[in-house]
Amino acid sequence: HFNAVILAGGNGTRLWPLSTPVFPKQFLPLPNGNSLIQESLARITSLIPSERTWVVTGRSMAPLVHEHLPSIPAEHILAEPMGRNSAPAIAWAAATIARQDPDAIMVTLTADHVIRDVETFNKALHHAYALAEEGHIVTLGIKPTGPETGFGYIRFSKNTAGEGHGHQAFYGERFVEKPDLETAQSYLSDGHYVWNSGMFIWKVATILAEIREHLPEMAEKIEQIVSATGTEQKRAILDETWPTLQNISIDYGVLEKTKNLVVIPVEIGWNDVGNWEQYGALFPADEQGLRVVGTHSGLGSQNLVVYNNTERQIFTIGLEDVIVIEMADKTVICHKAHVQRVKELAEQQQKKY
Ligand code: GDD
Ligand code: MG
Repeated sequence: HFNAVILAGGNGTRLWPLSTPVFPKQFLPLPNGNSLIQESLARITSLIPSERTWVVTGRSMAPLVHEHLPSIPAEHILAEPMGRNSAPAIAWAAATIARQDPDAIMVTLTADHVIRDVETFNKALHHAYALAEEGHIVTLGIKPTGPETGFGYIRFSKNTAGEGHGHQAFYGERFVEKPDLETAQSYLSDGHYVWNSGMFIWKVATILAEIREHLPEMAEKIEQIVSATGTEQKRAILDETWPTLQNISIDYGVLEKTKNLVVIPVEIGWNDVGNWEQYGALFPADEQGLRVVGTHSGLGSQNLVVYNNTERQIFTIGLEDVIVIEMADKTVICHKAHVQRVKELAEQQQKKY
């Protein structure tokens, strides 16, 4: 059976101050009123019912996940005592599903990305399912548009791993997580690299075997967690063991090391909503390129993102390429050229609490 696992452990620094550790990016609203996490679920429900969908999230966020996704059974919301990165989260979900259905295939999804072409995405998932059944670690690859250093890069070989549902798959020759700028530039000119979308499709048995091989200590601890019985004992083992798990992403921990990699390049209108400019771009622009949420009036202003979460009136005159974020207790005014530095600011401010 096909299971879905939504990873919702982000700490939300890049869309601060709207997104915070207690209300991270995945809960932010889109223009249609749904949150990012609600859209993540909505785009797979035609393929995978809620009874086979799981969410791994921080314990403090579990109530919010439940509120946003009421159709997911409460016992399918796996609540971590603390974030230990994506490898433990994926291992826990895979081991939990395997206990119910050892032959299950799972797709790992992120809670905080936008996919515009859901139909094509679903076709790619159909093809990925078939490849996962053969024992591959299947990734969905995105055509790179620039030398981004925040992504994983996959070099695909010319050898096709099979075609289906309008998609071609290739063997992955190499996976490099977050290369430096120079390396990323060389990958772009090479032409045979795609970005890792962070969505993976595999048999639970396949990923558990990979974790046993590359992260043996983690595999053992996760096995202890999932084999505990009784509510209290389960919780005690989780609380005791989880903080001791290696803090490592699945990308560094498994994907860079596996020999089983297959990639399906996809064109699905993928956007990881990584900063305020990208979040703003989800909202419609007027003729002046103003993307406004809430109230704002501009005189001669162009290419702004204004996010006004208050009743206060905001007026701008002659501003260009600026982002204005107005919250009850904070105002951030940032030039678009410095949009990545919001993370820096958020980290600096959050240290104060
Ligand atoms: N439950 C849980 N617990 N989820 C987590 C944790 C955790 O401790 N840490 C991260 N996640 C989830 C995030 O919520 C997100 O959905 C996913 O795992 C990836 O984590 P990020 O922190 O967003 O990773 P990244 O953006 O640096 O890099 C990853 O995504 C890129 C695409 O957006 C990598 O997979 C890259 O290779 C990839 O290109
Ligand atoms: Mg990310």
